[in-house]
Amino acid sequence: MKRDFLTLWDLSSEEVDTLLKRAGEMKSGIDANKCPLIGKSIGLLFEKASTRTRVSFEVGIYQLGAHPIYLNPNEIQLGRGETIPDTARTLSRYLNAVVIRTFGHDLLDKFASCSSIPVINGLSDLHHPCQALGDLMTILEKKGRLKDIHIAYIGDGNNVANSLIEAASLMGMNITIACPEGYEPDPDVLERARASAKSEIIILREPKEAAGRADVIYTDVWVSMGQEKESEEKKKRLKNYQINSNILSCAKKDVVVLHCLPAHRGEEITDEVMDGPHSAIFDQAENRLHVQKALLEMLLAKDS
Ligand code: CP
Ligand code: NVA
Repeated sequence: MKRDFLTLWDLSSEEVDTLLKRAGEMKSGIDANKCPLIGKSIGLLFEKASTRTRVSFEVGIYQLGAHPIYLNPNEIQLGRGETIPDTARTLSRYLNAVVIRTFGHDLLDKFASCSSIPVINGLSDLHHPCQALGDLMTILEKKGRLKDIHIAYIGDGNNVANSLIEAASLMGMNITIACPEGYEPDPDVLERARASAKSEIIILREPKEAAGRADVIYTDVWVSMGQEKESEEKKKRLKNYQINSNILSCAKKDVVVLHCLPAHRGEEITDEVMDGPHSAIFDQAENRLHVQKALLEMLLAKDS
């Protein structure tokens, strides 16, 4: 039975623990020459730009012994109107898994329901679960645990925030979102995360209040891919939500700053914070590689 990874809820907390342990082993290089996915081919169908997700998957797939195939929708028949079900059925005959980056999350659900191979969400307008796995690995590395950690997510309640909330709920971390009215995370994500959580999930307006008790401060761009038309209004509404030295002065001395990247330096985060001693942002980017390799191994290595 194939398994997809479309949101964090596709894994149990025990599986996330196992995956993070395996990602740590992979990072240490103990079995760098093992190729658990030898002979397999994995598609990367990206409808939006990407640096980290595309390159970390391509490199990770190669390191696992498999073959990555980048699929630009405008260069395959999908771009000329071939349907999602027909594309999904056809690709299932060649590939062993597919990573998809798209706009509406419903495309991922439809693709997954028509595929006989695992479908991995490489970002949709609603979720970014591979990012959240990298975030968990980074928090674990820097703080030594996940349970009872306090995260402050300051800014737009977007796809990255939604997956971070799900990750927090699954792994017993507390999360406070500071955002302006109208820019809250998705209500269905919040409802499910709150129903499952053994920890706090709080929405408030004041960034300093969120930062005050945080072990981790997290932000993302104010204007996500596909939202360019709303950009001026969003930037105005979010201008008081910048992560800067003033916000950091309210936080714990050992606070860790995360950002999924790409950053708009000078908007949601200052150079000073991004390049400063609290930033673990480039470790976080590296960890995408390790968690995604562990994820692929978990979903595919036992395949025939
Ligand atoms: N964080 C992240 O997914 O970056 P890319 O858009 O470069 O893939
Ligand atoms: N929220 C951002 C994340 C990019 C990795 C976007 O969707 O554009």
